[in-house]
Amino acid sequence: RVTTLAPHRWQMAPYACQRRTPLLHSNQPLTEALETLAEEAGFSGSEGRSLAFTRAASVLKALPGRLSTLEELGPLPGIGEHSRRVIQDVLEDGVCAEVERVKLSERYQTMKLFTKIFGVGVRTASRWYQEGLRTLVDLQERGTKLTRQQQAGLRHYDDLNTPVERGEAESISRAVQGAVQRCLPGTSVTLAGGFRRGKPHGHDVDLLLTHPEAGREAGLLSRVVSWLDSQDLILYQHSQENSYALQEGPEPPGGRDVMDRFERCFSIFRLEVQGGPGAARGWKAVRVDLVVAPISQFPFALLGWTGSRHFERELRRFASHERKMVLNSHALYDSRRNLFLPAVSEEEIFQHLGLEYVPPAQRNT
Ligand code: GTP
Ligand code: MN
Ligand code: MN
Repeated sequence: RVTTLAPHRWQMAPYACQRRTPLLHSNQPLTEALETLAEEAGFSGSEGRSLAFTRAASVLKALPGRLSTLEELGPLPGIGEHSRRVIQDVLEDGVCAEVERVKLSERYQTMKLFTKIFGVGVRTASRWYQEGLRTLVDLQERGTKLTRQQQAGLRHYDDLNTPVERGEAESISRAVQGAVQRCLPGTSVTLAGGFRRGKPHGHDVDLLLTHPEAGREAGLLSRVVSWLDSQDLILYQHSQENSYALQEGPEPPGGRDVMDRFERCFSIFRLEVQGGPGAARGWKAVRVDLVVAPISQFPFALLGWTGSRHFERELRRFASHERKMVLNSHALYDSRRNLFLPAVSEEEIFQHLGLEYVPPAQRNT
């Protein structure tokens, strides 16, 4: 939470999950500059530096007003030396030379181009850059070896890099709704990710499936995907089986961003459209993530899949550093008392953590 101290001095809780961060804020030029540097650091494999810029941007997003001088920042947590310099440059000149240099650099531009391919991460993009590849045409002409996922990503590159509108997300949600009603009546479909946080558009559609009777959801995903496929709604998919067992115990604390182990499907849908870029052919490719959670884990999955990514990272950091608890998308584990803390809602998870509840629309950190 944020309170004003002196007329122009802000005070702020140290963890992003202790703050309310709305979608729209007053410091867009500053956060954009910092997030460009965070992205660039990520492209260079400097995770620590990337996180530092992300943290600084996150603090600015939670400020209740526009920052006009560096002095107003005072001793705010999480804004380092380098970030302060960037902020000062943008406040004084409207731009920061370092950021402008990054944006124009061949490496940054190429890394951005390549990592926007579905299935291409920083490591692959970096290798291609080192091999001298610079364009999407280069990839084809030089016969670069691509996975099936990357081939699909390249084939639908333009569509997948066109923002998904909320209406399109809802339409896909209804299609999946229809499919689950055929396969397992009573299954609920929840729109998570950025759309649940109130974003008007996103890069994909994140859908969470669960059934009120424990165990009924097992094997659901493959039947749903087969049905959607039989209706020609799927252009690409690869699925992953559930590999989570509570008996195994929680993930080791401090481990890197652990992907969860739900039954899940990474897919590309074929969405019928009237207008927009795909209008001429009548359809558009849209990235869809389908995740199935057993009802007992649903609140954890919902919290984990609503994001933002930084909010999730901060929740886990708060849990482990401040509470000696391990939080992931399956469960919350109390290491001091050696027990799992069950929850039937997101509110209850915040209560276990001793955090004030932050609604989805305020998790845009
Ligand atoms: P846009 O899709 O760009 O609009 O933003 P978004 O916030 O929806 O991002 P994204 O779809 O990438 O992720 C949504 C949320 O799901 C984020 O909080 C991620 O941390 C989370 N997420 C994505 N992939 C995984 C995963 O494999 N495991 C877990 N546990 N969470 C994931
Ligand atoms: Mn998303
Ligand atoms: Mn997603």
